Amino acid sequence: MTRNRKLLLVAVLLLFTAAGVGVGLLLTNIQQRIAEGERLRLAARIVPIGELEVDPAVWGINFPYQYDSWLRTREYGVRTPHGGSEPFDKLEANPFRRMAWAGFPFELEFNEDRGHYFAQTDQRETLRITERIQPGSCLNCHSGEFTLLLSEMSWDELNRTPYNYFRDRLAVRSFGVVCADCHDPNTMELRITRPALENALVQQGIDWRQASRQEMRSLVCAQCHSEYYFLGAGNTLVFPWSRGLGLEAIEEHYDTYGFADFTHTLTQAPMIKVQHPEYELFSTSVHYAAGVACADCHMPFTRVGGVKISDHWTRSPLLNINSSCLTCHAGVSEAEMLRRVVTIQGRTKEMLGVTEGALTDAINAIMSAMEAGVPDAALAEARQLHRASQLRWDFIDAENSKGFHSPQEAVRILGHATDLARQAQLSATLALTAHQTEAARAGE
Ligand code: HEC
Ligand code: HEC
Ligand code: HEC
Ligand code: HEC
Ligand code: HEC
Repeated sequence: MTRNRKLLLVAVLLLFTAAGVGVGLLLTNIQQRIAEGERLRLAARIVPIGELEVDPAVWGINFPYQYDSWLRTREYGVRTPHGGSEPFDKLEANPFRRMAWAGFPFELEFNEDRGHYFAQTDQRETLRITERIQPGSCLNCHSGEFTLLLSEMSWDELNRTPYNYFRDRLAVRSFGVVCADCHDPNTMELRITRPALENALVQQGIDWRQASRQEMRSLVCAQCHSEYYFLGAGNTLVFPWSRGLGLEAIEEHYDTYGFADFTHTLTQAPMIKVQHPEYELFSTSVHYAAGVACADCHMPFTRVGGVKISDHWTRSPLLNINSSCLTCHAGVSEAEMLRRVVTIQGRTKEMLGVTEGALTDAINAIMSAMEAGVPDAALAEARQLHRASQLRWDFIDAENSKGFHSPQEAVRILGHATDLARQAQLSATLALTAHQTEAARAGE
């Protein structure tokens, strides 16, 4: 071999190992597998599925492999370094959370999430439901009978009806997240069944019926894995996306409406409680920009017998790194991939801790000022800063990937959260000093 040819060979090899090329080839590979999935589902039709059929076992007659993998979401108890499916007590794991949510049902009980099978059961049993009065709106993301209920009553009626009205009925068939939530029974195409997401998309000029298949592989998850709140006396379920999906856009949405989920019992600040903003945080990531979908990592293609199906055992990808990650990141070992994820998560956790220290000081400073009799008007700024800081902390704490879904965005948000908490502390301390000075002068 001549020297030139050797050089050429080395250059070609280098090119091929370059990440971009590898990922490109693998994305093509995935497209081919998607096509295989389609052939499979057409070949597998056996019985017609009724328009209002919500029982996964009935769908399972036609699609036994998908059904079997979905059933595995019943399995729980495995922990990963920062996630997994053991529903451990998250208040016990980090006592700061109880302080953060003083005056809101989350201070009663908050656990690590587990599989889709338990969505209805875990909701029915939480102290947030049994010890507090909650609206039917809670059912939007937790009941397998949701699409059926919508055929019996309007969405507005469902939202405003008390949860307990449905309680007994929903105990009979507790399916969790079901096939009908994500699939059209006639065509098996992915579909959006949840009005809150549809409304939020319409507000942004998006019609999900025009969405690409790859977009749908994330949008079906966004029906539930998104931040939400209940608006007005009708308890309408709303996603705060009128200004966009970024943290600042969400804050602007809430501030414009002057909305608060609760009043903090320790500081009297008007607070927002954030819940599972997976879709929002993910939408700021490198993976999202590269066109990767939730289903790529959480429902990877898997071989059952001779066929390839989408794994409906939605769970932590760290329990399945080979199928979830290495299809695209070929050449990286499982151990190395795990290390990369855990490093990102460890950094996020460290920064969450820094923010929690600052927030604790802020809360204590506001409380000291209140105890000393500082008037409300002088504490308005500190309270507003408490709200702004905790919104950011909660956005990352409530997000279920411990920063992995968008690492840099997570620490960016936490940087601001810490800064705002220190500003709140300073503001309250200055208000206290001013008050004490005034009192001393009055006593002279
Ligand atoms: C590039 C791969 C990837 C994509 C894409 C992705 N995730 Fe994740 N997700 C992960 C990893 C890694 C974790 C961390 C798991 C752990 O800590 O055990 C995670 C964690 C989670 C968890 C918590 C899992 C647990 O064990 O409790 C949920 C819920 C979740 N993701 C939902 C989503 C949703 C919804 C989307 C799309 C909006 C999405 N993910 C997109 C990789 C991904
Ligand atoms: C917009 C969709 C949505 C709505 C509305 C919703 N949830 Fe959830 N809920 C989820 C998702 C997604 C998870 C899993 C991720 C997590 O735990 O953060 C979850 C997890 C839970 C869990 C298990 C983990 C935990 O927090 O202990 C409980 C219990 C729960 N929700 C109760 C409720 C109650 C009560 C309401 C009404 C006040 C409600 N949910 C409304 C989507 C929703
Ligand atoms: C949380 C949403 C969700 C639920 C619930 C769900 N699926 Fe799917 N399903 C998907 C996604 C995403 C795909 C991939 C579709 C694609 O690539 O276009 C898929 C694909 C499929 C396919 C096509 C072949 C394949 O495996 O890729 C079949 C068949 C299927 N699902 C059946 C079912 C059945 C049966 C159930 C209930 C037991 C169910 N699904 C529950 C989201 C869901
Ligand atoms: C109809 C609402 C709904 C939809 C749609 C939905 N989820 Fe979930 N998901 C939940 C709820 C609720 C839980 C928590 C259940 C519990 O802890 O009882 C959950 C839990 C999870 C978990 C944690 C599982 C574990 O073992 O810890 C993952 C991962 C997840 N979902 C990913 C997804 C992905 C990916 C999609 C889209 C393909 C999706 N979900 C669609 C409501 C939904
Ligand atoms: C469908 C393909 C695909 C899958 C599946 C996938 N990735 Fe990626 N990943 C990419 C692409 C594309 C990039 C961006 C590469 C680039 O532009 O340099 C990327 C980038 C990354 C990065 C660097 C992110 C950053 O912020 O710079 C990490 C870390 C990573 N992936 C981890 C994972 C893990 C862990 C999993 C499994 C849970 C996974 N990926 C699954 C395609 C994928």
